[in-house]
Amino acid sequence: MERYKSIIDDWEGFKQACETHAVNIARRNRVKSSDDFLEKLFKDFDVIEKPSWNENIHRLSNTEEPGKSLLHWRGDYYVQEESAAIPVHAMNPQEGEKILDMCASPGGKTTQIASRIENNGVVIANDKTAKRLQSLTANAYRTGSTCVTTTNYDGRNFPGREDFDRVLVDAPCSGEGDRARRTFEPAEKEERESLSELQKKLIVRGAELLIDDGVLVYSTCTIAPEENEEVVKHALENTELELEGIEIDLPHSSGLEEFEDSKFGEELRKTIRMYPHHFNSGVIYVAKFRK
Ligand SMILES: C[S@@+](CC[C@H](N)C(=O)[O-])C[C@H]1O[C@@H](n2cnc3c(N)ncnc32)[C@H](O)[C@@H]1O
Repeated sequence: MERYKSIIDDWEGFKQACETHAVNIARRNRVKSSDDFLEKLFKDFDVIEKPSWNENIHRLSNTEEPGKSLLHWRGDYYVQEESAAIPVHAMNPQEGEKILDMCASPGGKTTQIASRIENNGVVIANDKTAKRLQSLTANAYRTGSTCVTTTNYDGRNFPGREDFDRVLVDAPCSGEGDRARRTFEPAEKEERESLSELQKKLIVRGAELLIDDGVLVYSTCTIAPEENEEVVKHALENTELELEGIEIDLPHSSGLEEFEDSKFGEELRKTIRMYPHHFNSGVIYVAKFRK
């Protein structure tokens, strides 16, 4: 990860955090869980903290297996990295809206949206990979996310026109933040560049599908500026999207104004980068736009 030494605050903290496990999170599902949810969760797990930024997030002791409990099976909560819950927080979906989750499987963010709007609205959960739709469908069913309909398009050609109040582009990425997949090695240059081309097309299509004044959130779980700031800069230059700031009560870094030979601009500081040492979670990059 030496490639990123110049952009990561607290390099030693970052390296150390990369060698530990992220804290497990149980994200309470508001459409399934009852008022005594916390009491029930305590019976199975050691809840170590409830962070102030999101009342539904419960940080659990690392020794537990939060995906193996009756409460999880019943859909009372969803196991998610805390960082992965940030894009939907930034998107701030509202009841009654029509929302597109363009790259949705296995459904962490789709089910978070459904829980947030308490099933009052329409969520189109799309994914290009048919096989991955199985886990998306299963998760939507388990969590009682009845407002969700799944589709199987390549997001670049998602049909229709300006129709959505909000669009989430949680893009396929090189996953440099994935401890298990990457052991924290940067992706190959060719991979970063070809993903960047795909991501630019997805975000442009997402912008086309958005109503005027609608909100689009773009996110990845990678550190590569080619897949983050470069994609956002492309969207600013080629669509009607404008960046908005993201308010979040969690440690983070601002998006980059430049990296190596690339200049992205001061505006990119409105986007956010989160690294494992910030709150012992995964890598996430989030940009919020309004059309
Ligand atoms: C980062 S994952 C999404 C994770 C998901 N949003 C969640 O929170 O659980 C990216 C997804 O994009 C899908 N994908 C890849 N290329 C795509 C494309 N061209 N159009 C739509 N989806 C695509 C992959 O199958 C994968 O499921």
